[in-house]
Amino acid sequence: RTPLKDLTDNHVGSAVNASALANEADYRSVLTSEFNSVTAENAMKWSVVEPNRGQYDWSGADSVVNYAQRNGHSVRGHTLLWHKQRPGWLDNLSASELRSAVKDHITTVVNRYEGEIRAWDVVNEVFDSDGTRRDSIFQRKLGDGWIADAFRWAHQADPSAELYINDYNTGWVNDKSNAIHDLVSSLRQRGVPIHGVGFQTHLSIDYSFPGGFQSNLQRFADLGVDVAITEADVRMTLPATDSELTTQADYYERIWNACEAVSRCVEFTTWGYTDRHSWVPNTFDGQGAACLFDDSLNPKPAYNRINPSI
Ligand code: G3I
Repeated sequence: RTPLKDLTDNHVGSAVNASALANEADYRSVLTSEFNSVTAENAMKWSVVEPNRGQYDWSGADSVVNYAQRNGHSVRGHTLLWHKQRPGWLDNLSASELRSAVKDHITTVVNRYEGEIRAWDVVNEVFDSDGTRRDSIFQRKLGDGWIADAFRWAHQADPSAELYINDYNTGWVNDKSNAIHDLVSSLRQRGVPIHGVGFQTHLSIDYSFPGGFQSNLQRFADLGVDVAITEADVRMTLPATDSELTTQADYYERIWNACEAVSRCVEFTTWGYTDRHSWVPNTFDGQGAACLFDDSLNPKPAYNRINPSI
């Protein structure tokens, strides 16, 4: 069959579980043949790379980058600043200590992989659903300017990397997506180096497909930035029935087609490509089967819908 990556000029990727990458040859094989981009699911997060101040663990992140370089994949860096999976030692810092810790973190991580990361999720999930800034130590201690500073520091550390803001539940016009649209517009007007907007696109067939999904991507592209599907998956209540898998195929097809239709949509990345390694069952009780391939790495109806070349 024609692999997914050969169906489009867009980057076609998956989040990667570093231990599966190291230990499962079949997982690596499908990742290599079907995709041309990888995102470290957890290995590049601050709590993982610097659990204690000044003590770094690059093993997982390096394994993902090394795999990508060996197999001609590009890498999405995920994520420099996020309120979750931040190391505990941040929380007691004063505002000025936190600011220098943030600058140091961004500079250290981005420098380490300079020239090897196609795109960075510089900030992740910075707005609440009502469009106000999410309460986090970054927002609370550093004030509104922390986001612009993060982008400037990341750009200084690697001018070749595309710098993104990333969030979820932003696939249609709502208070959150409007807030991101306004922020990106303002940052661009101030000459802040922001190059793209990531749409995580975690969907459930229990909810209708986001209305105006494609036109929403387009309105961000019209700001002069790239857009990317960064974490697509479509969960359902288990056990997966034929009818649910058909609806899942409808949703994946609509995401894929929207990215194909918007010229500045440059990436279709799923948050894990196989049900064998998905965050969904650990997060949503009784739900799962969210990915394009099943536990045994067989293509599911959603894969066949996107790629009828089989
Ligand atoms: O690595 C430790 C392990 O040492 C420990 O024994 C175990 C005990 O709980 O925890 C392990 O860490 C877990 C980590 O995944 C690695 O497996 C954390 O508990 C767990 O919370 C963490 O979940 C990740 C989640 O982000 C954290 O919020 C998921 O794997 C990951 O898929 C998910 O990804 C996020 C994106 O980064 C941002 N967008 C939303 C997406 C889904 O939440």
